[in-house]
Amino acid sequence: MTFQPITPIEPFRIKSVEPLGHTTLAERQAALERAGLNVFQLHAEEVLIDLLTDSGTGAMSAAQWGAMLIGDESYAGSRSFLKMEAQVRKITGYRHVLPTHQGRAAEHILFSAVLTPGSIVPSNTHFDTTRANLQLLDVEARDLLIAAGRQPMLEHPFKGNLDVARLEALIAEVGRERIPLVMMTVTNNGGGGQPVSLANLRAVSAVCRRHAIPFILDACRFAENAMFIKLREPGYADHSPLEIARAMFALADGCTMSAKKDGLVNIGGFLALNDDVWAERCRNRMIPIEGFPTYGGMAGYDMEALAVGLEEVLDPRYLLYRLDQADYLGGRILAAGVPIVRPTGGHAVFIDAGALLDHLPWHAFPGAALSAYLYEVSGVRSCEIGSLLFGLKHPDGSDAPAPNELLRLAIPRRMYTRSHLDYVAEAVAYVAAHKREIRGLRFTYEAPVLRHFTARFEWEGEPEASGVGSLASAAVRSV
Ligand code: F0G
Repeated sequence: MTFQPITPIEPFRIKSVEPLGHTTLAERQAALERAGLNVFQLHAEEVLIDLLTDSGTGAMSAAQWGAMLIGDESYAGSRSFLKMEAQVRKITGYRHVLPTHQGRAAEHILFSAVLTPGSIVPSNTHFDTTRANLQLLDVEARDLLIAAGRQPMLEHPFKGNLDVARLEALIAEVGRERIPLVMMTVTNNGGGGQPVSLANLRAVSAVCRRHAIPFILDACRFAENAMFIKLREPGYADHSPLEIARAMFALADGCTMSAKKDGLVNIGGFLALNDDVWAERCRNRMIPIEGFPTYGGMAGYDMEALAVGLEEVLDPRYLLYRLDQADYLGGRILAAGVPIVRPTGGHAVFIDAGALLDHLPWHAFPGAALSAYLYEVSGVRSCEIGSLLFGLKHPDGSDAPAPNELLRLAIPRRMYTRSHLDYVAEAVAYVAAHKREIRGLRFTYEAPVLRHFTARFEWEGEPEASGVGSLASAAVRSV
């Protein structure tokens, strides 16, 4: 007889700990009022469990901290750069590696070096910074996600896939000249952290190659995507995450990368390309804004940590644990009768706030209202991924709805334990039971781009006696 454990344990032990930000209900209400009901404006120490983002918020390993001590801070030709470059090449196979301070800098450098106003860049779904970087250059960001990707409760193994027929139709309609590149976000963050299959990447790659259009991956969560392929796509069960990642990158011509996700670091990113001409243009663009090509936006010690992180992130044990965290939390939330995007994605649980708060229209931002209420009740910070974040516009300039009104509970890497996730699930169940108390939000301040970061709101309707929230009547124990 052999012991067959069923609990997928954390594949690490904890060496260094940090206290959580405990607050009372009254303190959270005051904090929310100061923050204009926008959880981005809270102080981190006012947050108990921070699921705002999985970006740069994870825990580094002892090996990464150790590597940082030997960082080479030379301005030119740093040893740490060469180490990072070798690791990026090993995984992606791309010849040119340009380090940047984070993903959006890689996007900005690439786009401003190769795009012209009036062009269109299709993707499965552009995330907020890619969309904003394109729009700032008067380039249209066009989302061509498969229809299944927009139906939260529909079970489908690869809801991040791009609709290849729509891509072909777009090229036929506007002409290849107006499409300077095609992007794919792996996993598809805006659509629920859903993976893209190798078959879909292969099909998109074939279309791009037929029309000689460069194909670029937004690769922030490439390792999670690779693990989903291993677990779900027929024929890949026996392949390692590294082999699958290599196959993904081989189908494209380059990538932008926020290393704050699957680089397992707190800051950093890179742009990697095969094309010599594009790489030269990007390098020339990069030097005045990010830095010399062998450090770009990173310190030598950051590049050391990234070189190690890129190795650790492809460990199948780590990836199994990682995907299990979202699956576990999603399962508990679903069991409480709360609709979520199914199946759970790699880095987060996405609550279908539009369906849960069916008394609120999209322009009252149900996801953001839910995030404010969830924080007020429990100290858990989350992030709206819906009409507020996407900020879509009709041709006449008026606001347009996003495909879905979601609330993302993003799980930082190697940071929270199962009991933290249990607490979050309990808080969400409580909120769902009191959902009729949640009112819509109305702007008191709205910035022209990336408005979700700095927006300020008030609750729709009359303010209640408690001042800020809609929670006055709820008997909630302080945590
Ligand atoms: N692409 C995707 C798919 C992202 O999720 C992000 C960041 C970026 C690009 C930009 O990378 O932050 O390093 O500049 N997403 C974070 C999030 C902020 O919360 O999902 P960055």
